[in-house]
Amino acid sequence: MVGTGIAGLWGAWRLATDGHDVLLVTKNTLADSSTAWAQGGIAVAMSTGDSPSQHAADTIAASGGLSDPAAVDVLVNEGPDRVRELLEMGAEFDRAPDGTLRYALEAAHSRPRILHADGDRIGAALVAALTRAIRRYPRIELRESTRVRRLIVQDGHVTGAVLVGADRTVDVVGAPAVLLATGGVGRLFEVTTNPPVATGDGWALAHLAGAELEHIEFLQFHPTALSLPGVNPAPLLTEALRGAGAWVVDGGGRRFTFDADPRGELAPRDIVARAVADRAAHGDAFLDARHVADVVGRFPGVAALLAPHHLSLEDSLIPIAPAMHYAMGGIRTELDGASTLPGLWAAGECAHTGAHGANRLASNSLLEGIVFADRAARDIAQSVAEARSTGPAVDTELRSDDVYDVHDADVELATMRRRMTADVGVLRTESGLAEAEHEFEMLCAQLPADAWRARDQLMIAGMIAARARSRRESRGGHSRSDFPNPRSVA
Ligand code: SIN
Repeated sequence: MVGTGIAGLWGAWRLATDGHDVLLVTKNTLADSSTAWAQGGIAVAMSTGDSPSQHAADTIAASGGLSDPAAVDVLVNEGPDRVRELLEMGAEFDRAPDGTLRYALEAAHSRPRILHADGDRIGAALVAALTRAIRRYPRIELRESTRVRRLIVQDGHVTGAVLVGADRTVDVVGAPAVLLATGGVGRLFEVTTNPPVATGDGWALAHLAGAELEHIEFLQFHPTALSLPGVNPAPLLTEALRGAGAWVVDGGGRRFTFDADPRGELAPRDIVARAVADRAAHGDAFLDARHVADVVGRFPGVAALLAPHHLSLEDSLIPIAPAMHYAMGGIRTELDGASTLPGLWAAGECAHTGAHGANRLASNSLLEGIVFADRAARDIAQSVAEARSTGPAVDTELRSDDVYDVHDADVELATMRRRMTADVGVLRTESGLAEAEHEFEMLCAQLPADAWRARDQLMIAGMIAARARSRRESRGGHSRSDFPNPRSVA
């Protein structure tokens, strides 16, 4: 199991509850993940009057015509049971004064259905609950500060991985199944809401091992990230603020998102992001939450992020711009989490289940993490039981570049990030994408083979640019100014 966001922690827990030994590897600490940073909540159709079919309809409507109805069906129908398991595990969600769960509204949901925790700090609450749960299982061995150098593939089957530790030891580990839950790719961009660990590692591992990546050109740019020079990762101003009534305005106080969509601030994220990008280019986009009742009490996490910048939800117009936030595509998986490469499963943001299509509905990602990690863990358990008689074979031949990577490649990576935000960001063009792809190839060629961390990032950045270039249309999170409309067939 690789990665300790919601999908990795859930998958490890589920396998351990089924009596399996799990090696849980994370490149930094267990607390470093996009999940830990999550502010907005977990969408689930559990409130009175709501139904999985309404949740499915909203998910599909936001998806730019590209979601897989079967994956959406799994997401919305299995979501409630997984959330009930989270509650049994001890996760605390915000409640109304009568003790019932409180459901909030977020953009493009037709009704309030988002569970929050501690106002805007659901990530911390979920990581705490899942950490407590996995610590109860000695069958789970946690290895922090450990990177997966590469997957071992024998006869077309993943049979283990080469790991490198912070002490530079290289370790070959056999495994009957590998589940990648490595999160997203935000740190390939200059401006992102993602934590530093989100460098697309799972995509690189899967691709180099021979698994298929799908729809990686569909990236979601969050419309309301704090925009201040040099402040990156860009602190997120959660969508829940707009759900609570905050406005997106220009310097004159005009709510300009209504020019793009009658739903205004609560239109799907891709629409709001494009509208904000247009104004933010001239420093003329702001979030105004000054009129929202008890805004600091309800959003203590955002208030704390703003304080060091001398901004306040109660008194300030907050400067905003879109920031790279979430990858809809990824390692192509079946509904049981299996990738196209036998022995390899994927779950969470690094996976492409098909549930989000070209644009993810707010707060569907944490739900997708637990629903599909659960399915992957169950499928792994079954396949391991079937394969138990033979056991995994491991290629113990190390390669010369199976080493601890000592190259910082700061200059190359900074160039890549700038270029990704400028040319592979909210609005794309043929020439910008071609130049980006070419530059990433050149930068990669300059680096030695053992600078594999930077080379992998440049490879994935180049693949995103190439896929975006070949998609000659605009759809969901992929917008081309030279092809502004969707094609009739996706
Ligand atoms: C947010 O809090 O706005 C982000 C939640 C999400 O990405 O779904």
